[in-house]
Amino acid sequence: MTHEATTELRKFVAPEFVFGPGSARLAGRYARNLRVKKALVVTGPNLIRLGWAGQVIDSLREAGVSTTIFADVTPNPRDYEVMAGAEVYRREDCDAIVAVGGGSPMDCAKAIGIVCTNDRHVLEFEGVDNVRKPGPPLLCVPTTSGTGADVSQFAIISDTKRKVKIAIVSKTVIPDAALIDPLPTATMDPELTAHTGLDALTHAIEAYVSNAHSPISDLFAAKAVELVRDHLVTAIRHPDDQAARSGMMFASLYAGLAFSNAILGAVHAMAHSLGGFLDLPHGQCNAILLDHVAAYNYSSAPKRYTDIAKILGAHIEPDMAEDEKKQAMVTALRDLKKAADVDQTLSDLGVRPGELAELSAKAINDPCMITNPRQPTVEDIRSLYEAACRFHA
Ligand SMILES: [Fe+2]
Repeated sequence: MTHEATTELRKFVAPEFVFGPGSARLAGRYARNLRVKKALVVTGPNLIRLGWAGQVIDSLREAGVSTTIFADVTPNPRDYEVMAGAEVYRREDCDAIVAVGGGSPMDCAKAIGIVCTNDRHVLEFEGVDNVRKPGPPLLCVPTTSGTGADVSQFAIISDTKRKVKIAIVSKTVIPDAALIDPLPTATMDPELTAHTGLDALTHAIEAYVSNAHSPISDLFAAKAVELVRDHLVTAIRHPDDQAARSGMMFASLYAGLAFSNAILGAVHAMAHSLGGFLDLPHGQCNAILLDHVAAYNYSSAPKRYTDIAKILGAHIEPDMAEDEKKQAMVTALRDLKKAADVDQTLSDLGVRPGELAELSAKAINDPCMITNPRQPTVEDIRSLYEAACRFHA
């Protein structure tokens, strides 16, 4: 990786975070320091069953903070779930929010907060910098390693009427603190570990090649790719390997810091379209699309994609033709996907040819497309979807 001289002013936003085993149990101390009386705990039914939400709630209660649970959050959180959570927050007279879970509960929690303080419908915040007042104090305890929502200025919510995912991008949704504990991730099954880990890899790669990258975001993005290379397959094969789980939690954190600042690209724009229209799993959509988009983007950022290929272990010589380098990069991505047992196509997920026109039209309007290094036409996006429908990694 090289550091290019820059004459531009660069800003980097990040919340306070604590990293390490047991950090989830600091929730009570953090809430008390923020003078919280009653917290809305936004989580999912699985996290309650596994005991991770309970552990955080115990910590809050021990610190003298009362709690109300809101667990009606699905994957790809919906607009009406946010509004229902906001109703519970107001009715129960809460003064803070604690999110425990993967990207869905955390994004839902961020949106509940700004709905309550601004007294507006969640869909009115769509886009960049459209939130006037920050939400109440927000603590995030991630239980998957991939989303980066615990450190990002993004909240992605499904608009159920238009069947699109909207992006809310605002510094006001950055948590007051993230308590990043690798221990809960040991209960993720191999499939979820693979999908969330490849989501982190996609965050890192899209941030690294983004038009809005900076020397600071590059540092985190490149390190995240290295950590995924070293730890993802071990975390999938050996769920209790603490070094691998910790490595993937660092990968998620670094990739989250990178993309929160450098924004994303066509993979996420296309995955958001799939998630909003067909309610498909976010990480898996990204993983399926990643190599196809990388091959398409290569000519607009050859040096940056070559850096990624080298980190992933591809054999690249300086005198190789650009086409050979591109192929080596694509092969390195596909090898990693195969090792993670992610070899499905979009057709396997139920995507039908007749849906591609609408999916493409929605993807081109996603804000993540703006920072993609190559600006595609709708036809380009449709061709990428078609390739991802039929090609096995
Ligand atoms: Fe993502």
